[in-house]
Amino acid sequence: MSGKFYITTPIYYVNDQPHIGHAYTTIAADVPARYWRLCGRDVRFLTGTDEHGIKIVKAAGREGITPAALADRVVVHFRDLWERMEIGYDDFIRTSQERHKNRVRELVRRLIDRDQIYLGSYDGWYDEDQEEFVTENSARESGYKSPISGRELVRHTEESYFFRLSRWVGPLIDHIESHPEFILPATRRNEVLSKLKLGVEDLSVSRQADKLKNWGVPMPNDPGRSVYVWIDALSNYVTALGYPPLGDTEQDLFARYWPADIHLIGKDILWFHAVYWPCLLLALDLPLPVTVFAHGWWLNQGRKMSKTLGNFISREEIGKICAEYSPDYFRYFLLRSVRFGDDGNFSPEQLREIYNAELANGVGNLLSRTVKMVEKYLSGTIGPPPPEGSSREAEVIVRARELIEKSPGWMARLEFQAYIGAVVGLETAANRYIEINKPYRLAREDPASPRLAEILATCAEAVRIILIYLLPLMPEKAARGLETLGVDYGGAGEAILPARWGGYRWTRPVKKGAPLFPKQPV
Ligand code: MSP
Repeated sequence: MSGKFYITTPIYYVNDQPHIGHAYTTIAADVPARYWRLCGRDVRFLTGTDEHGIKIVKAAGREGITPAALADRVVVHFRDLWERMEIGYDDFIRTSQERHKNRVRELVRRLIDRDQIYLGSYDGWYDEDQEEFVTENSARESGYKSPISGRELVRHTEESYFFRLSRWVGPLIDHIESHPEFILPATRRNEVLSKLKLGVEDLSVSRQADKLKNWGVPMPNDPGRSVYVWIDALSNYVTALGYPPLGDTEQDLFARYWPADIHLIGKDILWFHAVYWPCLLLALDLPLPVTVFAHGWWLNQGRKMSKTLGNFISREEIGKICAEYSPDYFRYFLLRSVRFGDDGNFSPEQLREIYNAELANGVGNLLSRTVKMVEKYLSGTIGPPPPEGSSREAEVIVRARELIEKSPGWMARLEFQAYIGAVVGLETAANRYIEINKPYRLAREDPASPRLAEILATCAEAVRIILIYLLPLMPEKAARGLETLGVDYGGAGEAILPARWGGYRWTRPVKKGAPLFPKQPV
């Protein structure tokens, strides 16, 4: 498949260590990025860190260090975790980088030139955690507390620059209504639409620079004020593509990749991405992203994860899970156990159950018994599998075909659970096929039977397809499995997806190795 695919994660705050929430969004972006790359698409995958704003200034203050020093320290944890999690991003943007700051300034200057920003005055409620001004109505509704963090709202008066957000609400509603794929899942889209229809005020887009210890991007027309951190942050999706061009050394990737195909985010930051960001783009006369997808939240044993409860699945916790299972299994589990878009409940029992059922006893067992039998009965050599029309193999082939045909749609809609379900379906069918056809008995009774080679070739072809489709989810494990099976794939940038039944000729013998998914004690 040709065509470009630009996917982004939110850029993460550096006031805190990375945890399961950050890992979730980032893994969920890495999987389609890998999938479409394997399909031969021109993929761009962007992640990074959001380093300005009062949260970071305050966190640094508590430690008695500068915000820059804090950011430099914490960003390493994000990069390390992404390396451990096998995140194959193409670019990692930090909002403190000159390439970004210069472009934010230029974007704001363009908005000012277009009369999209004016000086006004704000007097009202402020949510310090979300760095957001809150209207009287919303403040009352939430009992004068932050709906996200629960912290008390504070009273705030200041002169500020405003973006004419209200001017763009009509065109935005039209866009949302005429593009059902713009906000996904659909329930989130309806939430945004109903809230928009209640009316939206203009958006304050500046803060006093001294209050932020000058840690931010100065307004181009008034350096005593800084650009509101969310405007600064949202801009990363285009500044990382070298937009607007400034004649520096940045590559101009904007024409090639914009608009984004997917902005992947959590549901808590949907309003910023589904309202502020598109309105800014409309005001700049730029195309809107194709899809903003808001996923759900992970709870820990039924409870919201929070700093106060101290129950975040932290980076250390993730490290333990990776050591016990593997980073690949952590990736698999996050996308397998919850329908993407819904909230999920983290449980160590479920972690173990899915692993044993689908990987240790499932894919891992299928691979090892296939390899063992091919070694023992066929001296390690796999021949061509029976053709697609073969009725004796129908159950396996139907499952393989389903996976091959439906996976592009599942991946396009981020239906990871269905995608993995089809992989597991093929594994189950192939394991059952072994039980029914009993190649081990045939080997005893008639070792030269051509049917024996056919049965084992069918199994090998099923595992090959399973492993190819697992590559985006479990890059290391799937590659190792394919190595064991004796499969060379994807040389010289060749697209290896979609797979085709019988689409591979074995040139090297299988090679038994340590189990791919060793069983975990129950
Ligand atoms: N800096 C902003 C985003 C700016 S994007 C232009 C921000 N950063 S964050 O560090 O708070 O990370 C937010 C991401 O982590 C969101 O996608 C959010 O949904 C995700 N999660 C944080 N806790 C989470 C869970 N418990 N579960 C799942 N994801 C959650 O917001």
